[in-house]
Amino acid sequence: MKEKVAALIQEIENATIDNHDALEAFRIKYISRKSVVAELFGNLKDVAPEERKGMGQLLNELKNMANDKFKNLSSQMEQTTTKVAHSPVDLTLPPVPNSLGTRHPLNLVRGRIIEIFERIGFNVSEGPEIEDDWHNFSALNFPENHPAREMQDTFFIEKVADTGREIALRTHTSSVQVRVMEGEKPPIRTLSPGRVFRNEAISARAHCVFHQVEGLYINKNVSFADLKQTLYHFVKEMFSKDTKIRFRPSFFPFTEPSAEIDISCQICNGAGCNICKYSGWVEIGGSGMVDPQVLINCNIDPEEYTGFAFGMGIERITMLKYQIKDLRLFTENDIRFLQQFSVIS
Ligand code: DAH
Repeated sequence: MKEKVAALIQEIENATIDNHDALEAFRIKYISRKSVVAELFGNLKDVAPEERKGMGQLLNELKNMANDKFKNLSSQMEQTTTKVAHSPVDLTLPPVPNSLGTRHPLNLVRGRIIEIFERIGFNVSEGPEIEDDWHNFSALNFPENHPAREMQDTFFIEKVADTGREIALRTHTSSVQVRVMEGEKPPIRTLSPGRVFRNEAISARAHCVFHQVEGLYINKNVSFADLKQTLYHFVKEMFSKDTKIRFRPSFFPFTEPSAEIDISCQICNGAGCNICKYSGWVEIGGSGMVDPQVLINCNIDPEEYTGFAFGMGIERITMLKYQIKDLRLFTENDIRFLQQFSVIS
């Protein structure tokens, strides 16, 4: 029996395992109730009584040794398996940066324009991009034969059979003015940003789809001075405190008097450069006092109320703000261009 125990000790000491099955086989062979060790304990009763105590101690040592070895082998196994399971992820590598998208420059500028006007009491209103003749032209005093209604300028969609009314893609956001005035009572202070469409060839300076923002203020005693001061406030906030503003007499069917809005060139500060064609001024939009006939068309009494309106190109303002020279960059989706914009100052 002693030799058997000695042989087992040797066996257990040398045991190595490299998988779960081998570990289980070890357990069955040396630890379980049917193990060789348990069998030897069973044989203890056949040992001569004087040797039985010593033999018992020896078997206990064997049993402890088998248990210890099993524990070692188990933890060894655990370590190797955890290592294998985690090996595809190297936690010591530097993290992969989480790349954030940037906002489109037109969107940034649109947001900034809204912010500036919201602070002086304007709300935001929207209208449909597919518009009828009344809202885009007739209510705004465009005569029946006005050149802006021509096929070359306007994308017509259809003529409604029973009314004979034309449906077209809106050519300006002034159509939203009409919708707001038809639906609300003065005082009205509203800003309408949106997409507009014109039948134009695409170039660095023109596009068939672009963005405008329309402003409208209707109240008692609104004067041209209010219009000037409001826009002056806007350009100072949008560009810089030193930006100058100039109103050039102009004509729009829906305003009287009308004026084109120029600001001092942001590139040369008025000194003259190729962007402002050496005039020191660049145009950002049109404006004027709402024509009394337009108020009547929208059921507002021109004896009681007056108002001003303006419309500006968002692309134009963005180009001046960021010194962008080609309109097409806005729609080309070139990531190198787009990544340059994240916040607006
Ligand atoms: N709708 C005009 C355009 O697209 C811009 C404009 C001019 C809007 C004068 C206005 C305004 O509200 O008063 O060219």
